[in-house]
Amino acid sequence: MKLLEIQSSVRQERSISRTLASKFIYQWQSFHPDAQHQLRDVGEHPPALITADWVAANLTSETGQTEATKALLSESETLITELFESDRIVLGVPMYNFGIPANLKAYFDNSIRVGRTVQYNRDTATFNGLLTEKKALIISSRAGSYAPETPAGAMDFCVPYLQFILNFLGIQDVEYVEVPYQGMGGEMQQQATDAAIARLMELAKTW
Ligand SMILES: Cc1cc2nc3c(=O)[nH]c(=O)nc-3n(C[C@H](O)[C@H](O)[C@H](O)COP(=O)(O)O)c2cc1C
Repeated sequence: MKLLEIQSSVRQERSISRTLASKFIYQWQSFHPDAQHQLRDVGEHPPALITADWVAANLTSETGQTEATKALLSESETLITELFESDRIVLGVPMYNFGIPANLKAYFDNSIRVGRTVQYNRDTATFNGLLTEKKALIISSRAGSYAPETPAGAMDFCVPYLQFILNFLGIQDVEYVEVPYQGMGGEMQQQATDAAIARLMELAKTW
C-alpha cells in the first residue's frame, strides 16, 4: 500500500491544509503501519509550465522520441509514475481565487496525457481514465464556506474541478473534507477546524 500526499499550499508555516493532511495521514498510518508515504510538494516545487515544445513532444509517437523530447517530458513521466504507483492520494488544496492553486494546475497539465493517463476512444469519442483502483481525499482550506448544498457552493471552482479531473483520470472514489473560515479567527474558525479534524479522524479508520 502506498500513499501519495500532494500538497499545493505555497505556505509551509501556518498552512491549514498541510497541518490537517498531516494529522489525517498520521492517523491513517496507525491503521496501515506498513504503508509507504511519499510527498509531492507542488506548493514548494511547482512543476514547470507546459510549453509549445512540451506539447509537440507529447504528441510525438514513442518511436519518434529523441533525447530532447524525452528530456522535455521527464518531469511529467516522474509525476505520472508516482500516480500509477500510489493506492491512496491525499490532496491538500487551499482555495485561491475560487479555484485551485496555479501550481496544482501545472501539476495536472503535466499529468494528464492521452495514451499515458487517459485513453481516447475514437469510435465513441470518449476518454477513459487509466488511474483505476485508487482512492483520493481532497482536504481544502478556504476563508469562506462553500459547502455544496449552500448557494455559495456555486462559487467553488476548486473542489468540483478536482472531483471532475480525478474522475477523468479514472479515480472514482473521491472523498472531500472542507476546512472553511480559515484565517477569519475566533470561535467560527476553531469550530470549523475541529469539525474537519473530527471528520478526518473518522475517515482514517475506513479509508
Ligand atoms: C492568493 C490567495 C487567494 C485566496 N482566495 C480565496 C478565495 O477565493 N476564497 C476563499 O474563501 N479563500 C481564499 N483564500 C484564503 C485561503 O484559501 C485560506 O487562507 C487557506 O487557509 C489557505 O490554505 P493554507 O492555510 O493551507 O495555506 C485565498 C488565499 C490566498 C493566499
